[in-house]
This record gives sequence, structure tokens and C-alpha cells, in this order.
Amino acid sequence: MSLPDTSPWWRSAVIYQVYIRSFADGDGDGVGDIAGIRSRLPYLKSLGVDAIWINPWYKSPMADHGYDVADFRAIDGLFGTVAEAEELIAEAHRHGIRVVPDLVPNHTSDQHIWFQQALAAGPGSPERERYVFRAGRGPGGSLPPNNWVSEFGGPAWTRLPDGDWYLHLFAPEQPDLNWQHPDVHAEFKDILRFWFARGVDGFRIDVAHGLVKHPELPDAPARLDPVDGEPHRHVDHPHWDRDEVHDIYRAWRKVADEFEGDRCFVAEAWADTPERLAAYVRADALHTAFNFDYLKASWDPDDLRGVIDASLAMLGAVGAPATWVLSNHDVTRHPSRYGRSSAEGWSGGARYTPCGPLDLALGTRRARAAALLTLALPGGAYIYQGEELGLPEVEDLPEDVLQDPIWERSGHTDAGRDGCRVPIPWSGRQPPYGFSPDDATGSPWLPQPADWSGFTVEAQTGEPGSMLELYRDALRLRRAHPALGDGTLTWLDAPPGVLAFRREPGFVCVVNLSATPYALPEHASVLLASASVEGGVLATDAAVWLDV
Ligand code: GLC
Repeated sequence: MSLPDTSPWWRSAVIYQVYIRSFADGDGDGVGDIAGIRSRLPYLKSLGVDAIWINPWYKSPMADHGYDVADFRAIDGLFGTVAEAEELIAEAHRHGIRVVPDLVPNHTSDQHIWFQQALAAGPGSPERERYVFRAGRGPGGSLPPNNWVSEFGGPAWTRLPDGDWYLHLFAPEQPDLNWQHPDVHAEFKDILRFWFARGVDGFRIDVAHGLVKHPELPDAPARLDPVDGEPHRHVDHPHWDRDEVHDIYRAWRKVADEFEGDRCFVAEAWADTPERLAAYVRADALHTAFNFDYLKASWDPDDLRGVIDASLAMLGAVGAPATWVLSNHDVTRHPSRYGRSSAEGWSGGARYTPCGPLDLALGTRRARAAALLTLALPGGAYIYQGEELGLPEVEDLPEDVLQDPIWERSGHTDAGRDGCRVPIPWSGRQPPYGFSPDDATGSPWLPQPADWSGFTVEAQTGEPGSMLELYRDALRLRRAHPALGDGTLTWLDAPPGVLAFRREPGFVCVVNLSATPYALPEHASVLLASASVEGGVLATDAAVWLDV
């Protein structure tokens, strides 16, 4: 089989996120790798996804698990080699699966040759101009140049022994590049060409909203508005979502267009409003952007419908498809989010703080319904590895195994993102659940829970009512049904708390978020349901696809 020629593929694609460290371990060291991905391509094909997005696989000291890149043209030895990456790309293509790696243009590793050269060359040198070096404020320059804070906690500036400060919006091991410098522009266009020439079908762009900083680096407004305590909006923020960032992506689009076939960019852009997000995906810019408003919406009919309508309107206005996403490697897995009272959870910024007791059975029912909602909406969709198994967040990782830099940087007040990154359970009754080969020398880099045997691919395969079979059925139907994927929807009248929409030809999706069962509208047949619809009734927290 070869790649399907539906054009452009990314308008409807279901893209599976492979968090490479935790997907499958081919060489037995306890960390996932390219060999592991290759061995699981048949699984991905049987699941029915169109493409995989692979989190950073480049050479890296792994201060932020690969988001600190030391060499963008080399694969880290932990994961494999460039030759293996090429083989993976070719093999995936033979399975009809496209490959979209992650690109990290906002910062490099502090071990990147450019940063090493900048350190060696000293204050005022041209080498330092590729990054954001400044003198400090206050007596002897002992205070940071401004008040910017790192996303991982603490100040966004670190001082060197020579007195200069450098900017890092993330960890100190991730110095921010200076996108006002021509070398940076040239380098990234070259990196894009390097990988496009090796057959990749696109890139996920990390922190796409962060590259351009206000040239004068003024202080940033406080995260929470001092008056109403609401999160500060990013509009005209000195380092988030600045208008000038779009010039970069217009240039990148031209690079993508130099190559044969449909190449596609997806932006990780945390924009404040659907309008601001839509700016990233104008016709001459990036192709798609993750819809984080959808991810952050609570399990609430008005929230969800509001986000869906606003997204479709704003993206539609610039001719871009929506891409729906429920989970990723940075956020609490959604069965655990939906298993808590919906009013609490997302605090000031983007991070979710679990509050209150977890009802996982409830969260899982909702996750099943959310899967059918997500996969029925117009546009593309993302599946985060393990979501198709119904994995919950691992909330009881012992402190001594935590590795996310957020844990240290927050002074141990925020456990960080390790709970959604625990290695995938494939088979067997105990850890490593087939994640590593039988003769493995290392144990999984994060411990897997002792009670995950019911979540394995093996346990769920062929099991009616399992999350995995629900996803398989949904993806099979989605491929076959002419109404699904790219297009439009029409809302149908429904009682409060029930979301019902129609897609042409002849498809209806109904989601019941109300407290009472809902009698299904007239239909020819039930295509798929997240819970039993016996007697023509849809339970609370359930969804159904109907042929009408
Ligand atoms: C993005 C990534 C996240 C990473 C950060 C810094 O938000 O998704 O995992 O830590 O960028 O590169």
C-alpha cells in the first residue's frame, strides 16, 4: 500500500502523537526509540490513523526530553540514527502513514554549537547575537534585564560568570534564539529542507507563538490581572503571539511548497482567541494549528459548543481546517480531567491542576463520548498515544522518579507532566507490559502502574466495549463515511445539555451531556455508540453516530 492521494490530506487527517520515549522500546534500555516505532507500525495501521507526529528525536542532552536540541540534523543515540529515521519514514509510507516530526525553533539546547560558541566568544560578540544576551539591571547588573518568567517556573534569565544574562522562556538549558538574526532564519530553512528531502510530510512547530520578542524587551504584564484576577491576555505581549511571527511562517510555507506532495505544518500556538489562532493558518502561512481551546474546554455542553462554533467560524474565515485535540504530552490525560467536577481545573496559564476526588469510571465514559464527538467534527483530529487505550493520568508517581524540569523549577510545588508520559502498556500482566522486549536490560524510564494489565493493547483487542475497539471502529467508519473529515456541520434542535449535529450526506452525531437520558431522533441505523443505546435512548455522558 502507498500513501492515499486524497488532497490535501491534512484537512481531514487523524494524526497519532508518538511521544517517542514512551511509545515502544526496541533496544531494551527502557526508553522508547525508532526501532520501537517501526515494530508498531502494523498496530498504527490497524488502528487506522493517517499520520504520526513524533516528539523531538534530535540529538539532545534531554534536559526537557528532547525539546532542548543540540543538533537538528542528527538523531539522538537514545532513539536511533538518521538512517533509521529514513527507514521509518519509508516504512510508514508503505503502510499508508505519513510522518510529521517536531521542530523546535524557539530555542536550542545550551549544548548546541551556536550557544557554545556564544559562551566562548564573550559579551558583545557577534556569536552572542544569535541568542538573547543582555546586561542586567540594578547595581552591577545583578538583576535580570526584565521581569519575564520561565514557563517552567523562576525567572526567564540566567546570569553567566562573565556578567551577561541570557533569555530562556523555558529551562536554563534551553536558551531562546534571536529571531531578529538572519543566521537563525537561514538555519531553520535549511533544517526544513534537510528533513523534507528525507521524506517527512510536515512538521509540528513547537512554541510557534514564542519566536519573536519585542525588540526592546519591555517588562511583561503579570500573568493574572491584578484587578479581576483573570489570566492576562497575550495581545501585544512582549514575547507571546506577536504579529511579526507570521513573517517567519510565510517564508517557511514557501520552503514546504518547494517540495513535491502535500507537506503540512501544524502550529503549537497558544493564542488567546480563535481570531489570533486563525492568523497562523492563513492561506500563505501554516496549514493547521492545534485547537487548545477545545482541549481546555470542560465537559460542559455550552463550553464545547461555544468553542466548536468559534473555531469553525474563525478558521473557516481563513480557509483553514480545524484540528481537534483532547490530550497531549503536556497536559493531564482527559479521562482524569473529565473525571473531576468540571468547574475546576485550568488555572491562570495553560496548566491544569487536578482538584477534588477522581471518578475514573465517569471520566472514562466521558472520554468515550468525547472520542466520538471529536472524530465527528469537521476537520482533522489528534490522538495522543494511549488515549485509544483509555489511559488515565498517573497521579501517584513517587517523587524520586519525577523527571520533568517543571518539578525542580517549581520548587517541588508542581509535579509537572510525567503523569501523562508513562510508557504505553502493550501486553502481558505486569510491567513493562511489552513496552520493552523480554530480554530488556533497563526498566521503563518512568514506572508503570501495577494495575495496568487491563489497559494493554493485547487485553483490549477484540474485546467488545473496550476503548481500543471504539477507536478502531470510529476510525474505520470515519475513513469510509463521505460525511466525515473536512467539511461543515449543522446543529440540530436538541434539549439543553444535548449536542446534536448533522453532516452531509446522512450522518448525525449526538452527545448527551445532560443529566437525563435522551430519546434518539429518527434514524436509519446506529453506526457506533460510546455506550449502549438499547431502547433508542442515549444515556448521560454518552455519544452516538447515526445513519439518517
Ligand atoms: C512545548 C512542548 C513542551 C516543551 C516546551 C518547550 O510546549 O510541547 O513539551 O517543554 O514546548 O520546548
